Amino acid sequence: MNASELSVKVERKSVAALDICTFELVDVNGRPLPAFSAGSHIDVHLPNGLTRQYSLCNDPAESHRYLIGVLRDPATRGGSQAMHDLVCEGQVLRISAPKNHFPLAHEAHRSILLAGGIGVTPILCMAERLAVVGADFEMHYATRSRDRAAFYDRIIASPYAPRVQFHFDDGPPGQKLDIGTLLAVPQPGAHVYVCGPKGFMDAVLGTARANGWPESQVHYEFFSAEITKSDSDESFQVKLASSGRVVVVPKDKTVVQALADAGVEVQTSCEQGVCGTCLTRVLEGEPDHKDMYLTPQEQAANDQFTPCCSRAKSAMLVLDL
Ligand code: FES
Repeated sequence: MNASELSVKVERKSVAALDICTFELVDVNGRPLPAFSAGSHIDVHLPNGLTRQYSLCNDPAESHRYLIGVLRDPATRGGSQAMHDLVCEGQVLRISAPKNHFPLAHEAHRSILLAGGIGVTPILCMAERLAVVGADFEMHYATRSRDRAAFYDRIIASPYAPRVQFHFDDGPPGQKLDIGTLLAVPQPGAHVYVCGPKGFMDAVLGTARANGWPESQVHYEFFSAEITKSDSDESFQVKLASSGRVVVVPKDKTVVQALADAGVEVQTSCEQGVCGTCLTRVLEGEPDHKDMYLTPQEQAANDQFTPCCSRAKSAMLVLDL
């Protein structure tokens, strides 16, 4: 176990909604856990060998526990199913210390929080933080149906409940989330935060960008992604700037896998382009970005890429490794 990792015990596992469980994690020796801020996540090392990121959704003022919510998603590669089927109360898990790639912007005058499905976990933590400090915000929580809305009772019972609107896909048309109206005009000082499934994220981010919201006022976190294979995914070469060594990346391997075969380790976590752990500087060549981590501007700069999923448009990439 590396120094920044923690051993935690599953103190409680509860059903929070249809196909959603929460896991309350405490230090194995009962010590306080490292502090975190709203929007933080932890890496959880699962019994089946996968590592997955889960947002913390308890009050950041608490140091005796971390709370995560996990959706059972049969379409994913087994992370959520392992959490639901293999992890039980009393079990000890290895996790990372909290990291925050999705922090609240302190300069915001107003916050618009948008949660789709299980994407509510970081958004809920943000709403509670904004409520505690008396900040101006509104929250929209969209799910397929009421029975899939985790934390519904916690939200309804909270002092900030009047700021939250629920939107159910199977509900009457009048309560559906109208992203086009909500984000019709960029508002000075207003910041938008979104987390949810890819379709939801694409709709919110696409609308915000089309309507001219500055990238600096739009914050997002993807929690999983389908890596799109392109017909153009060909074999290419990467060159390690430090040694000049050239490694071939075959069509059916990622850059990380090809480098590992050549004895070069790149640290990874999600392996699907959402967490940024593997981010590597590109000194020459043009990457074929497939991640959800970098902003469109950062991708366009072509000076860094995520080798766990991204590839190359040029015959060679020179990497700062
Ligand atoms: S390991 Fe998460 S982005 Fe590459």
